[in-house]
Amino acid sequence: MKITNPFDPRKILFHKETINAIKQGLIPYPVTLEVDLVDGFCNNNCYYCCFKCSSINKIILQNDRILLKKLKNCYKQGTKAVELVGGSEPTLHPELLTISKSIIDMGYDIGIVTNGVLIHRIQSIAKYFNFIRISLDSGNEKVYRKTHRSNAYMTVIRNIDGLISYGVNPNKIGLSYLCLPENSHYKDIKEFVKLAISLCVGYVVFRPAVLHKYCNESIGNTLISIRRLKREYSKKIRIFYSYKNRWLRASNQMSKSGECKMSLLTGIIQADGRVPFCNLYRKVKNYNLGNVYKKDFGKIWLGQKHKKLLTDMRREHCSKFCKADDYWDINTTKRRNTLKSRKIQFSNFSKAHRNFL
Ligand SMILES: C[S@@+](CC[C@H](N)C(=O)[O-])C[C@H]1O[C@@H](n2cnc3c(N)ncnc32)[C@H](O)[C@@H]1O
Ligand code: SF4
Ligand code: SF4
Repeated sequence: MKITNPFDPRKILFHKETINAIKQGLIPYPVTLEVDLVDGFCNNNCYYCCFKCSSINKIILQNDRILLKKLKNCYKQGTKAVELVGGSEPTLHPELLTISKSIIDMGYDIGIVTNGVLIHRIQSIAKYFNFIRISLDSGNEKVYRKTHRSNAYMTVIRNIDGLISYGVNPNKIGLSYLCLPENSHYKDIKEFVKLAISLCVGYVVFRPAVLHKYCNESIGNTLISIRRLKREYSKKIRIFYSYKNRWLRASNQMSKSGECKMSLLTGIIQADGRVPFCNLYRKVKNYNLGNVYKKDFGKIWLGQKHKKLLTDMRREHCSKFCKADDYWDINTTKRRNTLKSRKIQFSNFSKAHRNFL
């Protein structure tokens, strides 16, 4: 069986050692490290930003010297990939190029999630990235201005074009689309898909936004529109809608309960050095495990606080959306038995994402 979707959660089956260690109650080093190079200030002002970043906040920059030292150790302990994400916007870090080059030289897989306004800053090494995902979220300038609250739409489009002209493999470039009340009609999504085709990027991926209020019915309709476009345009571009559970949870059709150990697959280093329990507890004080500016990552990751939280954490108290839920399902349901990793292969396009959990 070939996995063609880079977001297919079955990719955890390629990390048997880590999964087995987790099952035995151990704490392995994470397969992926999400690194926030920047926090607080952003050059966009997306009204929905889950990290509340904006152009009026104070900028927090990752200390590159300390970060690189910690990353070197994590690589030796088995961590395989670094995802530059946020926090805020990774391309705002003045040392982005040097940091990225060092991460590549250490042997890591590397990916970046960005608004794309300053992506030309890594143009010279972009071909060494496993993926470059640009959060465009609209097929026209008007919607972008409304949702990102920025005038940079055409700059981003030119930058995407620039990456491809510079020789970056288009299959490594993806455009993501957060489905919001303002952009989720069929015609909006179609415009975006057609734009992505004209830009020759490798894929588009749709996700439901996490908002306080989001109408369940509109989520169902959005999913129907995406499926329709997938049927219409799948010969021209790869279209993904992330994992099904994300949409089911968004429309309240699924509940979850019990412990969470899948957080162990992905570690996070915030821009101020803090290591949170998991992605969604980035800014919650009680879930801060420690700070890499003061302590070794390993001591934090294997420390008492992490152990205690792993015992106490209950998934029912978490947000509806969490990628760890998708991994949890794969790891616990009977599907696992029919999905032995040796039978699964990645298609060439999606292989690059296998270490990004
Ligand atoms: C916080 S941003 C940081 C990286 C970069 N600034 C960007 O926008 O791509 C990381 C991802 O979170 C997504 N995001 C932001 N707010 C969200 C929300 N309320 N619900 C779901 N995803 C959200 C963005 O669309 C983006 O793809
Ligand atoms: S570009 Fe990213 S970090 Fe900046 S406001 Fe938008 S979602 Fe938040
Ligand atoms: S289920 Fe909860 S504890 Fe587990 S990774 Fe997701 S948000 Fe974190």
